[in-house]
Amino acid sequence: MIVPGSSSQLLAAALAEETGRPLATPTYDRFPDGETLAAVPDFDGEEAVVVAATDSDEAWVELLQLQDAVREAGAERVTTVVPYMGYARQDQSFGDGEPVSARAMARAVSTGTDRVVLVNPHEPGVADFYDVPVETVDAAGVLAGPLPADLTEPLFLAPDEGAVGIAETVRDAYGAGETDYFEKHRDRETGAVAVSPSDAAVSARDVVVVDDIVATGSTMSESVAVLNDRGAGAVLAACVHPMLAANAVTKLRGAGVDRIVGSDTIEGGCSVVSVAPVLADALA
Ligand code: R5P
Repeated sequence: MIVPGSSSQLLAAALAEETGRPLATPTYDRFPDGETLAAVPDFDGEEAVVVAATDSDEAWVELLQLQDAVREAGAERVTTVVPYMGYARQDQSFGDGEPVSARAMARAVSTGTDRVVLVNPHEPGVADFYDVPVETVDAAGVLAGPLPADLTEPLFLAPDEGAVGIAETVRDAYGAGETDYFEKHRDRETGAVAVSPSDAAVSARDVVVVDDIVATGSTMSESVAVLNDRGAGAVLAACVHPMLAANAVTKLRGAGVDRIVGSDTIEGGCSVVSVAPVLADALA
């Protein structure tokens, strides 16, 4: 059975349809003291595939509870799909006394599962933190699907060098265009982002800025603004994980983005394409 976390219900349903597996209907409750209680009253089967984006602290707790609940209900094998792994950016201790949060989370999840499937984790190295086999899938190619078919001299631009790989993946899936990247600097104190343009000619070209995640939107909105200043044609933002925290959407609109394309690893208004087909392949 496919067992959805509360924030991955649409993706889990799509995955159930793709794989032909039944979809469980968990309940998600909260006690008066704030504690979470996720349960799977209709679990039936030997194999459970828990699908849960960990985009909040509550979601992490819920995931651990769902893993335990299906074992209690008789599951002999548990696969845990984490479409978006929160805390993946805390992949090392950045200062005295700081934890390696991604490792702590991975260890906890490992206790309740036989294997893990991750989708485009921010740092690929976080896969090593799990104590069970991990498969990491690159779902960035699905972002090409919703893009207009008639982009003018398309340029797939990464806002920093680290995102070049997924920009290439989207370009390859789109089937045309060039890739390039900006240099990015983020002030660790303020979080402010500055991007330095590359030499690529963007005037009158349609540009798709591709990143793994849009969180505060600072990186993407700065990139979009620079491209518009330089006379680009349409400027689209594409990301695997549309976290879009706080006022990120407004920042992007203010910078003049023409369209935001995200996947359903985090479900929201900009999750216009599903990674379910990619996950179905990974589960086959
Ligand atoms: C950084 O390396 C990532 O690829 C993203 O660019 C970054 O995490 C986005 O964060 P924000 O939206 O807060 O600028």
